[in-house]
Amino acid sequence: MAHVNIKGLHKHFGAVHVVKGIDLAIADGEFTVLVGPSGCGKSTLLRTIAGLEQANEGTIEIGGKVVNDMRPRDRDVAMVFQDYALYPHMTVAQNIGFGLRARNFPKPEIEASVKRAAKMLNIEQYLDRLPRQLSGGQRQRVAIGRAIVRNPQIFLFDEPLSNLDAQLRDEMRSEIKRLHQELGATMIYVTHDQIEAMTLADRIVLMNAGQIEQSGSPLDLYEKPKTRFVAGFLGSPKINFVKARLEPSGIVFADGQTLRLPAAESRRYGAHLGKPVVFAIRPQHIDRAADAKAAHIASTIDLVQPTGARTYVTFAIGQEPVMAELDAHDAGKPGDRIAIAFDLAHFILIEPDSGKVLGS
Ligand SMILES: Nc1ncnc2c1ncn2[C@@H]1O[C@H](COP(=O)(O)OP(=O)(O)OP(=O)(O)O)[C@@H](O)[C@H]1O
Ligand SMILES: [Mg+2]
Repeated sequence: MAHVNIKGLHKHFGAVHVVKGIDLAIADGEFTVLVGPSGCGKSTLLRTIAGLEQANEGTIEIGGKVVNDMRPRDRDVAMVFQDYALYPHMTVAQNIGFGLRARNFPKPEIEASVKRAAKMLNIEQYLDRLPRQLSGGQRQRVAIGRAIVRNPQIFLFDEPLSNLDAQLRDEMRSEIKRLHQELGATMIYVTHDQIEAMTLADRIVLMNAGQIEQSGSPLDLYEKPKTRFVAGFLGSPKINFVKARLEPSGIVFADGQTLRLPAAESRRYGAHLGKPVVFAIRPQHIDRAADAKAAHIASTIDLVQPTGARTYVTFAIGQEPVMAELDAHDAGKPGDRIAIAFDLAHFILIEPDSGKVLGS
């Protein structure tokens, strides 16, 4: 186990600047999730930590040692890939023990380690099978087992669950979280799935175009996003963005309806009076108004999508669609008028040009 300290890291592929100045300190035993849209540089950053890519600029420290010039095998990290990368002609036991055999560990010790890892991952009964005789989830476990037996300072995962079906993914996600609790190891996990990021991470590092947009605990990023990008990336269904203008009377939407603000809120945004803003609120923080007095605005239901306990209801404010998550038995139907109450403890205002959350 070890802490990781990355400073001023840049990576270019020819003319393409992929990692653009990453500073990141990861504590010993922390579960860090790198998340962000496709192509933002997550895998490149992870591969650079592993030593599979050379950094162009900056330093990577693992356990207090700068590893920039160390070969991957000497960095004492184990990486688990999306495509498992198992040896097809080797049994499960041989695959898991491969790294130890290559390092000339004594046979009994290898056997004991393989057994222990297989037990942890619930694949003891498959040790004599070949990878092709396993399901996707079982193969992924073998790949994780291979990393566990090496007892590395750091585990690196690159989208290890994305080849699995939804149910298996949920199951393996819980197992990886349990594994982290059991081993207490430092883990860096790459995904573009925000649910995976939220559920697994001690800390989320949200990347955007080769840079860190914001990092913090999952709830910190969810509740206190600093930018529109962060607000829009985390949360399901997605947060709503509605163009508006901040006036002394409150937040005025494109259709002229006004959301009156409590005095304290108005004062807080005083510097932005008369300016365009983006009003952002999550579907969970919009409800049907209990009565006329509680209503903030009115609209007409366009779309109703039941999911079981909750139903997603879409309506428009001005020309912009807004989704609310409502009680399944009180959702209404398309064409119904609906009186809306926003939870005023939870909206945010964004400056349209910079994308910055006001007051953050
Ligand atoms: N070996 C390479 N040569 C040239 N460009 C590369 C190379 N590897 C990656 N890139 C480019 O670097 C950028 C970042 O790639 P990377 O694989 O790190 O993204 P990612 O965030 O992991 O995306 P995804 O979620 O799709 O896996 C992409 O634009 C990609 O095309
Ligand atoms: Mg990737």
